[in-house]
Amino acid sequence: MQKIYLIIIFLLFITHPADLIAMDASDAPDEAEINELLNLYDKVTFNHKMHTDMLSDNCALCHHHTTGKVLEKSSCVKCHKNSSEATTVSCKDCHPKNRFEAQYLKEVSADLTKYHTDKPGLKAAYHLNCMGCHKTMGGPAGCQDCHKRNDTGDKFFYSGKYAPKHISQKTH
Ligand code: HEC
Ligand code: HEC
Ligand code: HEC
Ligand code: HEC
Ligand code: HEC
Repeated sequence: MQKIYLIIIFLLFITHPADLIAMDASDAPDEAEINELLNLYDKVTFNHKMHTDMLSDNCALCHHHTTGKVLEKSSCVKCHKNSSEATTVSCKDCHPKNRFEAQYLKEVSADLTKYHTDKPGLKAAYHLNCMGCHKTMGGPAGCQDCHKRNDTGDKFFYSGKYAPKHISQKTH
């Protein structure tokens, strides 16, 4: 009986080697909706395919070493040159939504050997990654190019229908 399982596993391996070895562009979604944090802004529609085409499938520019592609950033390579592909790809699986939440702090202090406990939170991870590159390569960098402000945001920033009237009506 065990032999049959071994044969099946072997057949799976030779027919789907790519799935088992490393991810490539065909494993990635064409488009992703980024909507974990919605508070002041609407969701962000991210055209994954356009980005990977434009960046020659260099997955590690955004996913670090977790997709098995070459990681070039020198500050990471010094330790991760030989790191293997991880099972987690999605930013939200590693970058905490709230770094100062009791649950995260507990998780971090429970294992003192855990590495990188000071990594950026989810919002910062997106902003540093997306805007960092957009500023150097020339992608959109205006807040509302990526996400429209919602009603809560307008209220928070005193803009839109919450803009103070006397300022806009003043003429001089
Ligand atoms: C290149 C795209 C991009 C640009 C430009 C950008 N953001 Fe974001 N922002 C994101 C992404 C992606 C998220 C995560 C959205 C989620 O998970 O809900 C986010 C989340 C946020 C959040 C947390 C969620 C919320 O709705 O409150 C705030 C606040 C925010 N951005 C403010 C800004 C401000 C202010 C600017 C301009 C200085 C800006 N962003 C520019 C992509 C961008
Ligand atoms: C410009 C940045 C960028 C590049 C380059 C990039 N990705 Fe992504 N990828 C993202 C973002 C952002 C998401 C959606 C948000 C998330 O998953 O947290 C995503 C989502 C994914 C997902 C879905 C994850 C899930 O669990 O929902 C897979 C799979 C993936 N990418 C694989 C790849 C592969 C393979 C490559 C290289 C061919 C690649 N990506 C290149 C930014 C990028
Ligand atoms: C001084 C050595 C060192 C440097 C520099 C370093 N790492 Fe790590 N990293 C580790 C160790 C050790 C682990 C834990 C063991 C493992 O998972 O490989 C780890 C784990 C990780 C993981 C696995 C999951 C997690 O969340 O812990 C990711 C992803 C990662 N590092 C990304 C990076 C990135 C991105 C950089 C560069 C900005 C970087 N590392 C720089 C040593 C380092
Ligand atoms: C397997 C866990 C893991 C996943 C998945 C992951 N990260 Fe990270 N990320 C890390 C770790 C660990 C560090 C801290 C490395 C350090 O500070 O030395 C880090 C650091 C960063 C940094 C700051 C350092 C740098 O390289 O610029 C940014 C920005 C970032 N991640 C963005 C992202 C984005 C965007 C995604 C999704 C496309 C993502 N990360 C997915 C674990 C992960
Ligand atoms: C390594 C570089 C790089 C990273 C990282 C990157 N982008 Fe971009 N992105 C670009 C460039 C370059 C353009 C302009 C493409 C053009 O105008 O042809 C662009 C264009 C865009 C556009 C406008 C085109 C469209 O799809 O409507 C959006 C929106 C966008 N990026 C969102 C994001 C978000 C959200 C992230 C982070 C999750 C991100 N990008 C990360 C390089 C990058």
